[in-house]
Amino acid sequence: MKIAIINGPNLNLLGTREVDVYGNQSFDKYLETLQQEFPAVELSYFQSNVEGELVNEIQRIGTSAAYEGIVLNPAAYTHTSVAIGDAIAAIKTPVIEVHISNIFGREEFRKISHVSGKSVGVISGLGLKGYALAIAYFTTK
Ligand code: DQA
Repeated sequence: MKIAIINGPNLNLLGTREVDVYGNQSFDKYLETLQQEFPAVELSYFQSNVEGELVNEIQRIGTSAAYEGIVLNPAAYTHTSVAIGDAIAAIKTPVIEVHISNIFGREEFRKISHVSGKSVGVISGLGLKGYALAIAYFTTK
């Protein structure tokens, strides 16, 4: 089974960025843990700070029959990107939106998501574990 993880802007800085909010683990390190936790799953990983590149990757995964699902953390583009919401609506591959922090307990602008309504579901506020929970959803459904 193949699952794609797609991370948006500034998530390449996990581990050093606002550690009180996002923790001190880098995503590359966490990815190793994830792969060990799900040995039967082939995880692909893509991160970009560029909105259009995220749209391209969502389309690429979504038009390949090989993937069971997408775990997507669009980061700040969650709150601004109609294009990412439209890309999710344009594909059949199910998407789970993940946020490390609880976006509903922070600033007002973070409560708006262009992605949630197009996704199967949302996991927010459970730290990096949210990615594992999203993968578990795809592996047990
Ligand atoms: C985030 C929450 C967003 O509001 C923020 O812009 C991010 C990360 C999270 O994982 O908690 O960059 O998506």
